[in-house]
Amino acid sequence: MATINDNYLKLKAGYLFPEIARRVNAFAEANPEAQIIKLGIGDVTEPLPEACRTAMIQAVADMGDRQTFKGYGPEQGYPWLREKIAAHDFQARGCEVDASEIFISDGSKCDTGNILDIFGNNNTIAVIDPVYPVYVDTNVMAGHTGPIKENGEYEGLVYLPITAENDFTAALPTQKVDLIYLCFPNNPTGAVASKAYLQTWVDYARANGSILLFDAAYEAFITDPSLPHSIYEIEGARECAIEFRSFSKNAGFTGTRCAFTVVPKSLTAQAADGTEIALWQLWNRRQSTKFNGVSYIVQRGAEAVYSESGQAQVKGLVNFYLENAHIIREQLTAAGFAVYGGVNAPYIWLKTPQGLSSWDFFDQLLQTCHVVGTPGSGFGAAGEGYFRISAFNSRENVVAAMQRITEKFRT
Ligand code: MLT
Repeated sequence: MATINDNYLKLKAGYLFPEIARRVNAFAEANPEAQIIKLGIGDVTEPLPEACRTAMIQAVADMGDRQTFKGYGPEQGYPWLREKIAAHDFQARGCEVDASEIFISDGSKCDTGNILDIFGNNNTIAVIDPVYPVYVDTNVMAGHTGPIKENGEYEGLVYLPITAENDFTAALPTQKVDLIYLCFPNNPTGAVASKAYLQTWVDYARANGSILLFDAAYEAFITDPSLPHSIYEIEGARECAIEFRSFSKNAGFTGTRCAFTVVPKSLTAQAADGTEIALWQLWNRRQSTKFNGVSYIVQRGAEAVYSESGQAQVKGLVNFYLENAHIIREQLTAAGFAVYGGVNAPYIWLKTPQGLSSWDFFDQLLQTCHVVGTPGSGFGAAGEGYFRISAFNSRENVVAAMQRITEKFRT
């Protein structure tokens, strides 16, 4: 009989968001009259920018004409999109990133998981706790961890806790680690990283031969001009960091699918025989073999993000969600909650009231307010006693949800 990848048996029963959906669906079925407001998964609600839609409609027309029809595109993405990204997102900020170092993909979730294909199996891996669960689960699937422990941590991973006590700022590992996942603005806590803080990570990585896997999916939400948007704003990062970016949260592409990963050509890691190999070469090989690129239509939509009207419309979307975040912060603070994040990020992280566990608060919120959030403990052991509220929803729903929560939980 064929055998399975036994590492899958080590995983917690369900991925966090489907597990939440399962509980919400069960509640909705039992309470069909409940008007449930979902502030759980960070999924956008507002329509695609007009500039993107217009470009995609034109791209559909291109596909309907023999002269402009496109078959397979380059696996790495079309040059016209890669060049716009390089110029606008990196070179305009003083980062030395070339278009050829940008790989267009259908999502950062996929890329942060797939990147493990090009790394060895004996790396020591560090994650900040709480953490976007994909980083952990994909390492479990790849066999990079031992079994799960009582507290939800996996043996073999290095967890760097962030809580209110350390101001949601992870200390550098006290041991040598090889791969480090960083996400700023942070999912789930909404914490941000200064240039000086990121410099400590780059210096650590360069001193230890480590690679930083830097997830910048939420960079568009940065409002503080002193904060870096890219790891490549930090000196030395081209020698130690891969960056993941997405059109999901800024341009509303969660259902359209387009993202990109930056692998500098100067970035190397060691082969078994000790030679240094360029990671760009491996990722290029991996993508050319396992991926056929993002559709022409979608890439044209993403390209329109960089047009003048696209930029204005994306800014409008981001500001809309940031205003939601502001309302959530204000209302919950006024009601007596300890609230973090939500200023340069679309996530608000709060301490659960009355010492409730994260899942107990989730259940109470669902049952008494018909509001869905995400239990902090779902993101890791250090998230226990915390809860995440997403600002991705309509204004009407955000206002209604805050009214329900503050009425019920005001202290
Ligand atoms: C989240 O809610 O953490 C995000 O929506 C997950 C994702 O982007 O995959």
